[in-house]
Amino acid sequence: MSSPPRVAVLGAGNMGAALIGGMLKAEVAEAAHCVATTRTEASAAALEKRFGILATAGGNREAAKGADIVILAVKPVNIPKVIREIRDELREDQILISLAASLPLAVIEAEVRLRMPVFRAMPNIPVIVEEGAIGICHNAVATRAQREIVESLFRAVGVVAWVDDEQMDAVTALSGSGPAYVYIFIEAMIAAGLKMGLSREISTRLAEQTVLGAAKHVRDSGLHPAILRDQVITPGGVTIAAIHELERHGLRSMLISAIETATLHSRKRTNAMLEDLENSIS
Ligand SMILES: NC(=O)c1ccc[n+]([C@@H]2O[C@H](COP(=O)([O-])OP(=O)(O)OC[C@H]3O[C@@H](n4cnc5c(N)ncnc54)[C@H](OP(=O)(O)O)[C@@H]3O)[C@@H](O)[C@H]2O)c1
Repeated sequence: MSSPPRVAVLGAGNMGAALIGGMLKAEVAEAAHCVATTRTEASAAALEKRFGILATAGGNREAAKGADIVILAVKPVNIPKVIREIRDELREDQILISLAASLPLAVIEAEVRLRMPVFRAMPNIPVIVEEGAIGICHNAVATRAQREIVESLFRAVGVVAWVDDEQMDAVTALSGSGPAYVYIFIEAMIAAGLKMGLSREISTRLAEQTVLGAAKHVRDSGLHPAILRDQVITPGGVTIAAIHELERHGLRSMLISAIETATLHSRKRTNAMLEDLENSIS
């Protein structure tokens, strides 16, 4: 593998472009060694202008051929089609990474038809600000050195957690979709500030910084959030009055149920993909 690696991002939309931006900024990839593909000419031109990389509309085969690392960043429904398109260009010494939700390793391997290292990564949208949470798993072929390469790519845009393929549905539900839950939380805090007479600007600034600061405090202190929560409660005070309301309305179990439901929803799709694979073999 060349150093820096030659990276091809097939389907560089929201997630693919965020990854490219993070990798270039962290210098784990170089613009001269990075190519991207899109469906339309307009998107390819925008990527070239934004990152100074080579981007082509529909040039998947060429891009995969010249790459050490091929990242599949198209929507899950387009993955089989794109793999079939590039299949003849894939080699055992390349690394293949899929970002697609609910698409298990076995299905990707069956499409690839080659004993090559395959990784599944589930990033989330804060990779755009290099604060993503990324769950990654790999197939049996992947070596420790290849895992380190993949980890270094994703560390450029956030925090990496290694999991098993079977755990990816839970990762999708917790951190993949998680930013959407937090956006609602922030939105509700802003609405509360407005209701209590604070300006929109002040409500927004205070709400966003409160979530950012609390998350940083959990991470930096290494303490369980329950301990930190207890530390800010004064007996008979304001915070415990609010917490009583949150508990009364079931915020905690609401979130557990939401993530459980999302995991089961993702697992249903994963199982359907695996069933299709079994049916195609038998
Ligand atoms: N967004 C998230 O929060 C998130 C989180 C975790 C995982 N993911 C995964 O990331 C993947 C991409 O999601 P996204 O939100 O980034 O989607 P997106 O913004 O719609 O990007 C998809 C890209 O694929 C391109 N494309 C479509 N067909 C193509 C083809 N045949 N060849 C080459 N490029 C093609 C599109 O090009 P045009 O721009 O020209 O149409 C677009 O740039 C999905 O598998 C998703 O499951 C996303």
